[in-house]
Amino acid sequence: MCGIVGYLGPAKAAPVLLSELRCLEYRGYDSAGVAIIQDGELSVLKAAGKLNNLEKLITDNKPTATVGIGHTRWATHGVPNDQNAHPHLDSSKTIAVVHNGIIENYEELKEELIKEGCAFESDTDTEVIAHLISKEYEKEKDMLKAIFKTVERLRGAYALGVVSQKHPDKIYAINQHYSLSVGLGNNESFLASDSMAVRQYTNKVVRLEQSEIAEITVEGVRLFAFDGKEVKRRPMSLDSNPYVIDKGGYKHFLLKEIHEQPLVLRQTLAKYLIHPTKPVSFIPHITPNGNAPTNNEEENALSKSYGVHLSDMEVKGIDRIQVVACGTAYHASLVGKLIIEQLCNIPVAVDIASETRGRRLMVNESTLTIAVSQSGETADTLSALEEAKKLGSFTLGITNRPDSHLAQITPNLIVTECGIEVSVAATKTYLAQLTSFYLLGIYLAEKRGAISAEQAKKLKSDLNAIPTLLEQILARENEIRMASLKYADAHDVVFIGRGLNYPTALEGALKLKELSYIHASGYAAGELKHGPIAVLDSKVPVVTVIVPGSVYEKTLSNAQEARARNAQMIAVACEGDEQAAKTFDTVLSIPQVDEFFSPLLTVVPMQLMSYFIADYLGKDVDQPRNLAKSVTVE
Ligand code: G6P
Repeated sequence: MCGIVGYLGPAKAAPVLLSELRCLEYRGYDSAGVAIIQDGELSVLKAAGKLNNLEKLITDNKPTATVGIGHTRWATHGVPNDQNAHPHLDSSKTIAVVHNGIIENYEELKEELIKEGCAFESDTDTEVIAHLISKEYEKEKDMLKAIFKTVERLRGAYALGVVSQKHPDKIYAINQHYSLSVGLGNNESFLASDSMAVRQYTNKVVRLEQSEIAEITVEGVRLFAFDGKEVKRRPMSLDSNPYVIDKGGYKHFLLKEIHEQPLVLRQTLAKYLIHPTKPVSFIPHITPNGNAPTNNEEENALSKSYGVHLSDMEVKGIDRIQVVACGTAYHASLVGKLIIEQLCNIPVAVDIASETRGRRLMVNESTLTIAVSQSGETADTLSALEEAKKLGSFTLGITNRPDSHLAQITPNLIVTECGIEVSVAATKTYLAQLTSFYLLGIYLAEKRGAISAEQAKKLKSDLNAIPTLLEQILARENEIRMASLKYADAHDVVFIGRGLNYPTALEGALKLKELSYIHASGYAAGELKHGPIAVLDSKVPVVTVIVPGSVYEKTLSNAQEARARNAQMIAVACEGDEQAAKTFDTVLSIPQVDEFFSPLLTVVPMQLMSYFIADYLGKDVDQPRNLAKSVTVE
């Protein structure tokens, strides 16, 4: 959570910092601030609320400084107000710090610093860092040495940006278990938590690795390990096309991203599925630049991290799969389990990544651990994967960000081809994660001889047909809107589904609550009678995901149980389903589809329903309250 930026060069720093922060708003939007050094004086502009508030301050103050750091916050310690907004200063007001992460021992440090006479102005854990650096600087008279001494005292995972009034020609960046990138321009340098934010200015980037400190000047960057040893690292080239972030005529990014799903699926399939008669290959024949991979190390620094590099022997030796993920990625993983178990006959366990902490992960040298994370930065997911690695497991990541931390810590990576997802609520990346699981299931089944060539060909052809079916759902958008708005005044909504569509029910409930703030819960349909049914009455809509196949009849029975309690009955069902038409008050229909692939379709009417209700209720659809897209604290 939280985004860090920096700029040093000939241009006015504040507008550059603002435009970098715009790209990082997905990491938090409780408050934002900048620290700049103008005419030899350190000054801070910061404001609670969205970035627009900071923008107004900058417009009013018109700072001309050419060096500064900035921050967009997702509150951990202290409410989101002006005082707790970053940057934070030391007592002499000459050192400013922006921070992403948590300092776990901040309370004992704060106590010690207060005894030594430091006055604190915020409730954050960050402020101790500014005071510590300042104290060490008084002794050392050297910023780097002061920072080395300070990091020795800090516990936790964090990334920092630091400026000092006494050294206006430098920015310091510190990385301990997070991501920070330094962008190198022509006589100017940039800093950002996510290289996407510097890509608008330069495609030459040096990424900080764990336990590293960067001393940044207009000429470039010097890297040091926490033990003081200088580290040499060549810059890497980012994708040559800067990310375009615009709504493309849609009212919200969310709606645009829902509509991008057919294209996203086509792109992900095109990358790994050359032809239905050819095996799935995760060594892509297209790089992020849209070119064929070459051996040019610098040019292909990102694409090199792509691919699944397990040998046939290793794939055959896998006797268990463990998946770790959070949020929407966890729901995709629950579908992934059923896909892989069905195709490959390998047991798959799925855990919420944060729930793997403090217990023994059941993995070993014959386990494949898969971490699924859109951002590739979710702290809980990364920790779980690191733990699995320590226990000797093979590891694989599924992410939308080949430049993420996840990509750095696993040799095997499936990259979903979604482009940047701006809206905080995940939609297109969920569908792409599901697609990756279908491809992975087929890949493993082919390698292990668990399916025949004929079966593999049929599965791939069916998968290739999905984008067209998605287009058919999106063409009914208006119908779905009208049907959804009938339920906009609900206070509680229950979602049920079975088998492959139980996770769809969970995802449907998550979308509705995060976008509209209406309380919603997803249940396995068979569980309804074991408790949740107590909440049903005529005011509660029940959304049932029901498609023809192995669990159709039983799901219908569970829906009948809800109907008998006078619940308002909504179904996501296949067109032409007469039974559904009789049972439910409202049917959000999808084209006919094989049950096995149905999760790729059933979620879409729910995404649209959640969007339309939230928009109708006037909610902040793209940036719902209290959320962040990338959750980098545990
Ligand atoms: C946050 C986002 C969710 C996302 C989850 C996991 O909570 O708001 O939309 O599903 O993090 O994120 P990841 O990047 O690991 O998929």
